[in-house]
Amino acid sequence: MPRHEVAVIRGDGIGPELVEAALTVLTAVGDRAGLEFALTEVDAGAAAYRRTGAACSPQDLELMRTGVEATLKGPVGLPDVRLPDGTEAGLLGGILRGGLDAYANVRPVLALPGIEPVLARAGHIDYVLVRENTEGLYASRGKGVGNRWAVADTTMTTREGTLRVCRRAFEIARARTGAPADGVQRVTCVDKSNVLRSHALFREIFGEVAAEFPDIATEYLYADAAAQALVLRPGEFDVLVMENLLGDVLSDLGGATIGGISLCPSGNIGDGAAYFEPIHGSAPSIAGRDLANPVGQILAAAMMLDHLGHQRPAADVRAAVTAALAAGQARIGSDGSARGGPGAIAAAVVEHLPDSS
Ligand code: IPM
Ligand code: MN
Repeated sequence: MPRHEVAVIRGDGIGPELVEAALTVLTAVGDRAGLEFALTEVDAGAAAYRRTGAACSPQDLELMRTGVEATLKGPVGLPDVRLPDGTEAGLLGGILRGGLDAYANVRPVLALPGIEPVLARAGHIDYVLVRENTEGLYASRGKGVGNRWAVADTTMTTREGTLRVCRRAFEIARARTGAPADGVQRVTCVDKSNVLRSHALFREIFGEVAAEFPDIATEYLYADAAAQALVLRPGEFDVLVMENLLGDVLSDLGGATIGGISLCPSGNIGDGAAYFEPIHGSAPSIAGRDLANPVGQILAAAMMLDHLGHQRPAADVRAAVTAALAAGQARIGSDGSARGGPGAIAAAVVEHLPDSS
């Protein structure tokens, strides 16, 4: 029986209940597919910081880098757990994305059934936003230069970093069937190259990579125009690639257009290590109240299955989520909250898994 070593970070706030729901689905599909998951629990995040003074220990980071094939992570962070500089202490992005060199943050935005439509004339929405994950403005995380009166954060765009994330975006496009509106396999470069030199470099390198993939169509959009287009004509997008901060903002915008970011999974994927998480935060105010929506976390587990080479079980999980939503068994409110809670939704998803995967 294929066995996979997987690390699990349950996280803060709603994290533990979401991860539990995702593990229920993962175990169920694993049973049907003859897969075994050897789980190693990693204690990381805001509560871990409060207890130990570190959001993630160097040993655990090393485990996730070299000791397991992938990590399933819940949302982390608590608003009152802060570093002296005022930023949140329990967040793991700065530690894991750089530490695992997980340079591509792959964020599918897919409209699901049974969710109240947000856009009146969107058509079907199914694109993948690829967010550069190790540089850009986030390269300044924890390093801003300044004093009490002024602070400067610097953005960083490197040739190598841009080449690799753009190549990843084109490879993703090659494996897909194109944009829903026209079936064209296309990668859109999103930047502010009309204003920023670093973004002009990003666009120039994107163009070089595009020449390596002559079978894939390309499009260039400034980020502000992209924000508008993702609302007015989302069905025309297939894959988009962009700098870190732009990807953070536009992926939440994309999530909103399909009914909320609680529905959105992501994979932080390098050439070696990878971790999978929903794109939303830990929502401590609704923790433990059976209101958290586990769909993004369950779909993150499906992305992890894909990454581990199990495309069929991954597709079965996605289909089961879709079926449960379509049948009204996993009802999501207009605020993104789940009726019945994560446990009930996980059970509904499991009900829709095929007998063998
Ligand atoms: C995300 C999150 C993180 C980010 C936060 C929690 C630091 O919003 O994964 O999109 O900004 O990258
Ligand atoms: Mn974000």
